[in-house]
Amino acid sequence: MAIQIKNPFITSGYISAEYFCDREAESKELIGALLNRRNTVVVSPRRMGKTGLIEHCFHQKEITREYYTFFVDIYATGSLKELVYILSKHIFSTLKPRGKKFVEQFFTVISSLRPAFKLDPVTGQPVFDIGIGEIRQPLQSLEEIFEYLESADKPCIVAIDEFQQITRYPEKNVEAVLRTHIQQCKNTTFVFSGSQRHMMQHIFFSASRPFYQSASFLNLDPIRIESYRKFVHKHFGKAKKKIAEECITRIYNLLEGHTWYMQSIFNRIYEQLDSGEEISLTEADRLLHSTVDSYRIVYQSMVALLPERQKEVLFAIAKERKATEITSSEFIKKHGLSSSSSVQSAAKLLLEKELITKEENTYQVYDRFFGLWLAQAYGTGYSL
Ligand SMILES: Nc1ncnc2c1ncn2[C@@H]1O[C@H](COP(=O)(O)OP(=O)(O)O)[C@@H](O)[C@H]1O
Ligand SMILES: [Mg+2]
Repeated sequence: MAIQIKNPFITSGYISAEYFCDREAESKELIGALLNRRNTVVVSPRRMGKTGLIEHCFHQKEITREYYTFFVDIYATGSLKELVYILSKHIFSTLKPRGKKFVEQFFTVISSLRPAFKLDPVTGQPVFDIGIGEIRQPLQSLEEIFEYLESADKPCIVAIDEFQQITRYPEKNVEAVLRTHIQQCKNTTFVFSGSQRHMMQHIFFSASRPFYQSASFLNLDPIRIESYRKFVHKHFGKAKKKIAEECITRIYNLLEGHTWYMQSIFNRIYEQLDSGEEISLTEADRLLHSTVDSYRIVYQSMVALLPERQKEVLFAIAKERKATEITSSEFIKKHGLSSSSSVQSAAKLLLEKELITKEENTYQVYDRFFGLWLAQAYGTGYSL
């Protein structure tokens, strides 16, 4: 049954192909990799659509028919123990609806986590109930989890989102341990996704690292304007709402097609229009400004928390929108900065805080709305 939703421009999660724009080539590539048991790395900036793409592929018939799929986001994990916790809890909750037999088998293979197996006193249903601290032998549990996946009656696909997080774990040799298990898998294929390109590249493309060349690489660029245009017209058309090509183009250019930001704006434009109405450029511009402004409190506090030097560099980058040669004397002079070395160290810290991105020597504010807000608050503003 098709799900009926009020606004087709969704800004969180995945619903169905109907509300998913393009990504045809990427889906084909990822599905092909999975069907042929190639582990794959998916990389893009945050909010570009990695999770969406993986979910979309996991919903395709070729995959749902033949595989068990698991998707875990490890962004919030800080140790191998937590990884074990989140992975096992997720596998448990995926299996639970399949019935007692599956749950029992789970705890038979993953016997080190047996203490987590409890029955809800009210419903009598099995629950996974253990504190992270009670995971006493994470290495053994991890081994058992892999054993479990390998013994499943269908092949498994495990997607680990924000995989770069494992480099922050305090335990020794995490990468090597995971790599060893993953390498031995015959029944399980992996997708590793991450938004920190340099960390992901480090993990998978440094000859000295355990995961070196162990997976193929899929880079997620913004959705092309032609596809997004079609997507907008399809949904606006269905509701008899109108929007000019020019308007779509300007929004796309200003937001550089960054998926979530595009979805947010089109969601609001869609909401604004009644059937038969067309959005004017002025009105679209007003909506964009009010959307950006709605995050004002967050952005103000982000700025307030920054040391002076970093603030200055952030403002300079925001003013330029795309800044190159930020340590050149020209850039320093233009923006009244102090010295090339202080700009360099400030930029490094801003990168680590994920406030800016660096692609081939071009710096940009990471969050598109934050960039626009900064341009308005500290620069010459922006408009469609
Ligand atoms: N192809 C797409 N078409 C429409 N919306 C999408 C598409 N891909 C992602 N989105 C939306 O954009 C937002 C960000 O995508 P997400 O997959 O969470 O990004 P990432 O995992 O890269 O951070 C989500 O809310 C999702 O609904
Ligand atoms: Mg994601």
